[in-house]
Amino acid sequence: MKRIKYEVIKPLIYSKELMDSYSTNSVAGGSLIGKTVLITGATGGIGISLTKRFIAEKCNVLLIGRDNKKLDDLKNELEKSGTGSIIKVLELDLTDLNCGNILTQFIENESLMIDVLINNAGVFTEIDRKRRFRVVTEEQFNTVFDANYIGTKITSKAVADYMVRNKISGTIINISSICAIQRKFQYTPYGISKSAVIKLTEDMRDEYPFLNIKCIAPGSVATRMGDLGEGSNISKKLGVLNRVALPEEIATLAAFLSSDIGREISNGALLASACEVL
Ligand SMILES: NC(=O)c1ccc[n+]([C@@H]2O[C@H](COP(=O)([O-])OP(=O)(O)OC[C@H]3O[C@@H](n4cnc5c(N)ncnc54)[C@H](OP(=O)(O)O)[C@@H]3O)[C@@H](O)[C@H]2O)c1
Repeated sequence: MKRIKYEVIKPLIYSKELMDSYSTNSVAGGSLIGKTVLITGATGGIGISLTKRFIAEKCNVLLIGRDNKKLDDLKNELEKSGTGSIIKVLELDLTDLNCGNILTQFIENESLMIDVLINNAGVFTEIDRKRRFRVVTEEQFNTVFDANYIGTKITSKAVADYMVRNKISGTIINISSICAIQRKFQYTPYGISKSAVIKLTEDMRDEYPFLNIKCIAPGSVATRMGDLGEGSNISKKLGVLNRVALPEEIATLAAFLSSDIGREISNGALLASACEVL
């Protein structure tokens, strides 16, 4: 019998070929065809991969970002490639406490049935990178906490209530981080905000038992957040993979968890990839 050998490749360059190899075949067995997926932080590294993955699964998408130009460029690029999916964009800053109402109104005006929400928007600041908890100002803390936790909480509640009102047995996936559970980041605003996202996931599972609510806590992912991107060397002494995860892999995981089979994974809201040993 043939055995699959795991090879450690150094350096491993994050290339177009590698991206494509993780974005082609369906991971949802067709169960997501025609569904509408709302993705926050759609203009960032994981957000773009999520968008391409759900479009590859033949979904329609509503993309949220805080920069209209980036959103329009992304929409144009996707439409040029002739996806056949309906692509809608909404400029929304998730630190705006009114963002839940704006979002609900937009969804209602556009008569959208949101089947999947991916709470992916987030920020990681210099103060988090330096892990200097004692000198963090209230303003610095709130900048991170509001974007990562408050925005996630408000959109989750708005969309969950919308799903319940419209009898949609939908999916909500929150993107936390390994920093939520990793000791050296646990006391940073980022780590605290991402721990709160895990707690929110657990609380919402109790509050909305008919919805599929899950949380992914990635380790290092090749995006601008970790100063990595296409062309970067992603081999790193990290976890079992010995490399940084690809945004395409996080997107694949999210699509799988939204699928009919993924929904069957019930106990435990947390999944981590390429994490360091705690
Ligand atoms: N990369 C990693 O190593 C890693 C590891 C674990 C978890 N994560 C999590 O994965 C998620 C995606 O991160 P990424 O790596 O793709 O980072 P990224 O490339 O920096 O993208 C972040 C996205 O969030 C958006 N955003 C930030 N603040 C926002 C706000 N107030 N309102 C609306 N949108 C906002 C950004 O919009 P703009 O384009 O306008 O800036 C961007 O689209 C984040 O939640 C992050 O914490 C990342």
